[in-house]
Amino acid sequence: MSLSHVLPALTSQVPPREAGRIPRDRLVVSQADLACAIAAAGPTTGLPTIIKEHALTSLMLACAGVRYLCQGAAVRDAYRRMTTAEFGRINARQAWANWRVIPRNLHGNLRIDRPSRVLDLCCGMGDSTRALAWWLPAGSFIVGMELDPRFAEAASAFRYRNRDGEIIPASIQRTSVLEGFRDCHGTRCADGSVDLVHAIGSIGCHFTPEQTAVILAECARVLADDGFAMLDAGRAGTSPKELTHVAQAHGFTVIGRARSWRFDRYEQLVLRRTA
Ligand SMILES: C[S@@+](CC[C@H](N)C(=O)[O-])C[C@H]1O[C@@H](n2cnc3c(N)ncnc32)[C@H](O)[C@@H]1O
Repeated sequence: MSLSHVLPALTSQVPPREAGRIPRDRLVVSQADLACAIAAAGPTTGLPTIIKEHALTSLMLACAGVRYLCQGAAVRDAYRRMTTAEFGRINARQAWANWRVIPRNLHGNLRIDRPSRVLDLCCGMGDSTRALAWWLPAGSFIVGMELDPRFAEAASAFRYRNRDGEIIPASIQRTSVLEGFRDCHGTRCADGSVDLVHAIGSIGCHFTPEQTAVILAECARVLADDGFAMLDAGRAGTSPKELTHVAQAHGFTVIGRARSWRFDRYEQLVLRRTA
């Protein structure tokens, strides 16, 4: 049996909570919804090809002295030294994972009875923003924050839509998430003004636990009372254990988690403020 036959089987996890136990005002994502979303708007390249291209591009970049799994000031420099095409190949695995991880964590948590105000930290060229927008109710909007000007420009140029085809407006702010969260005007996000703070492919790769504490302090400040955060974790940056520890120190409890497939090195945790 070929790898491309084995991988989808390993990725077909069921959503974490049964639909019957979820309040009516929350998003329910069935396995069929997930498959539909991926077929309609997800990346079309298969995981084996993505992994092969990722490995080749990483190797070529490493030969040129570019190591992007880094922290601190080196992050900006590493991304600056790759072309947007190289970033696309490096990030393809992330883009593939986004369509599997994000809906699993929104399931049972995202309110669908009213629009949501969403922050997508380190949004890159908008791959995570796209997967988020798909599930949002009409009237919602997203503020993306991204360090690299070329990626921010690409993310700004995209028109984001939800699964009913409605436009979800997105404002991409070119800034570091470590310098305070921004609103759509580029000014400091107001306290309690956000329903969901989201990050994927960033905290688990690029942020030390000390930097993650800065992000958690901002999450605690900007989230509305019934808001929640979905933040990624991985050993290259802040591990799941470290993220849990930092989150607890800022008054959050881990209420869910998801991986794209069984052998994914990264995980995304769902955090809610402890009552
Ligand atoms: C692996 S990419 C993930 C992008 C996106 N979340 C996705 O799923 O496609 C990581 C991104 O984090 C951005 N980044 C790293 N450090 C950042 C910071 N301090 N503030 C804002 N963006 C940052 C990088 O420029 C890069 O675009």
